[in-house]
Amino acid sequence: MSKQILCLPGDGIGPEIMAEALKVLDVVRQTFGLDIEVSHGLVGGAAIDQDGVPLTDDVLAVAKASDAILFGSVGGPKWDDQPMANRPEKGLLKLRSELDLFANLRPAILFPQLAAASSLKPELVAGLDILIVRELTGGIYFGEPRGVRTLENGEREGYNTYVYQESEIRRIAKVAFEAAQKRGGRLCSVDKSNVLEVTALWRDVVIEESAAYHAVELSHMYVDNAAMQLVRAPKQFDVMVTGNMFGDILSDCAAMLTGSIGMLPSASLNEKNQGMYEPVHGSAPDIAGENKANPLAQILSLAMLLRYSLGEGAAADAIEKAVSDVLDKGYRTGDIASEGSQLLGTAEMGDAVVECLQHS
Ligand code: IPM
Ligand code: MG
Repeated sequence: MSKQILCLPGDGIGPEIMAEALKVLDVVRQTFGLDIEVSHGLVGGAAIDQDGVPLTDDVLAVAKASDAILFGSVGGPKWDDQPMANRPEKGLLKLRSELDLFANLRPAILFPQLAAASSLKPELVAGLDILIVRELTGGIYFGEPRGVRTLENGEREGYNTYVYQESEIRRIAKVAFEAAQKRGGRLCSVDKSNVLEVTALWRDVVIEESAAYHAVELSHMYVDNAAMQLVRAPKQFDVMVTGNMFGDILSDCAAMLTGSIGMLPSASLNEKNQGMYEPVHGSAPDIAGENKANPLAQILSLAMLLRYSLGEGAAADAIEKAVSDVLDKGYRTGDIASEGSQLLGTAEMGDAVVECLQHS
């Protein structure tokens, strides 16, 4: 039976970078004889414009029935005045939560060709290979109660709830320990257990889970220190595991170490290995429609999709190699450009990856 992929380009640069990923998919589909059916849908602002909501029930149903979702990016100033419950981002958050995509894997790998593009000194980032495992369906992003209320004195008060159940911590810890076991054997759990009870529980549960993973060396770090260590000496990390909000922040930070957030893919998986794959970066409305965006994070997200949800490791390897080959040739989009490199637009970068794929 053919595998079903749902493609949700979203807003801003989403449609442009998705078009390049789809070019790449066409090539690997032929080269590797993959039996894949692709369907398309709207999400985020694009869905609000057409249907009034950031994710329709129909698109959600297709998503649930798919083996994997390739997601672009959502949001932009056009929808800034939407009420919180109907913002473009809610489409993404609803997909994560309805499909129970609790395990977000965000690798921050430095392509050696881009060492000069990092804001840190090349020697601090050369060989960087970190995996951030972010809990994605709980924590303060989803905790209730939440809202803005008016107090008796007439002042408004905003509130959210940072909550984690033991079982939620346990399952993400397992994913992180398993990943560390397959990689460098080191896991750093990030919390704020000196202040927040919910993350003191997080630490306790992670320690309990560690009993089953003797080969993994477990350490703990407060989130403020982790942010500092990421920019001070990032190579000390192998796998990091943390909650939803800390993971959001730290993964942007780790992304920038690699030269550009425009390079980083991510996978969000549930217990059934169904997954949604998206670039770590956002919709970049300031450059949308200008053929300037870097499509490589989207293309690398496709590689992750093929590897994790479709079991097509060889096709994934080929795409990753093609991306590396393109960088070897000195091709760069604006975000990773350096002296002597050849500046390409979004579509030309996609074509360059296709070209490398066809000639490897
Ligand atoms: C991310 C993004 C999202 C998040 C936004 C768009 C809701 O920043 O995937 O990191 O906060 O999770
Ligand atoms: Mg983010």
